[in-house]
Amino acid sequence: MKKLIFIFVLCILYNCNTSKSSSKIMGNKIVVAHRGASGYLPEHTMEAKAMAHAMNPDYIEQDLVLSKDDVPVVIHDIYLDDVTNAYEVFPDRKRADNRYYVIDFTFDELQQLQVTERFNPKTGKQFYSNRFPKGKGNFKLHSLQQEIELIQGLNYSTGKNIGIYPEIKNPEFHHNNGKDIAKITLDILSEYGYNTKSDKCIFQCFDAKELERVRKELNSDLFLVQLIEFEEETKQLAHFATYADGIGPWYKQLLSKKVDGKFTFTNLVERSHKYGLKVHPYTFRADQLDEFSSFDEMMHTLLIDANVDGGFTDFPDKMVAFLSKQ
Ligand code: G3P
Ligand code: CA
Repeated sequence: MKKLIFIFVLCILYNCNTSKSSSKIMGNKIVVAHRGASGYLPEHTMEAKAMAHAMNPDYIEQDLVLSKDDVPVVIHDIYLDDVTNAYEVFPDRKRADNRYYVIDFTFDELQQLQVTERFNPKTGKQFYSNRFPKGKGNFKLHSLQQEIELIQGLNYSTGKNIGIYPEIKNPEFHHNNGKDIAKITLDILSEYGYNTKSDKCIFQCFDAKELERVRKELNSDLFLVQLIEFEEETKQLAHFATYADGIGPWYKQLLSKKVDGKFTFTNLVERSHKYGLKVHPYTFRADQLDEFSSFDEMMHTLLIDANVDGGFTDFPDKMVAFLSKQ
């Protein structure tokens, strides 16, 4: 009888463990639509954001650069020439380095540009050849405010609660041009109701000094994610934990060498979790699998085996589908 009770207790414990390591924990992993549904439509267009919203991610990402008149424009680079026809509309407005800078144009001027699928401005070649065809369609740049109104409007009309995940780009460049992109962005977020960690907004930045300033000088109470680009930054978790709530590493920083054909992992996730930091790696692409043989293998390896807390993807539908099967 004692043996039976013991086995019964073990089964309960096992089931608790199983459900913890599958549906419960999986349910907490977040999907971030990277630049919208950018695997299907030109990145950071309103169309890509509306499509992403329909795919039910937890958050939709906004990369931000200021215009000449201090409007936060949703675009990935401080340059215009990888995703627009600035060279056709404003041929005389490039700088000595042959590049067109967002910060040199007013928001009204930026509205005159066509946005297209990302391409190499030197060769004109589309970056991801199987994505939306370059030069087709009628896409425009837009502001952070316009995108928040789209997402909040869609949340209202669909009954969903999809969040935003803004990133201020290159704050040092902005400071050098007399602009405080962090403060301008935080003020707009506040106007739209994003003030605390319980509001559905995660604020991210690669620049550690600036993100620390966001917490300690600008007194933001938002959920902050410290993006990580370089290996040496993975050694600064103790410091990051003094102001941030999570880190956003390149997913390859989680992978170690393969042993007997199986992936092994660095201790970055484990160390981050010890400091109470969530881990949201970038960027999962179904058309750029690199070391993986399928998107599902990529998802299983990073989300389950490496135990991250979510991540950025150009294909939110595929990541949502993977998580819903767990
Ligand atoms: O912000 C995290 C993710 O978007 C990766 O960075 O270069 O695509 O903005 P990036
Ligand atoms: Ca980003």
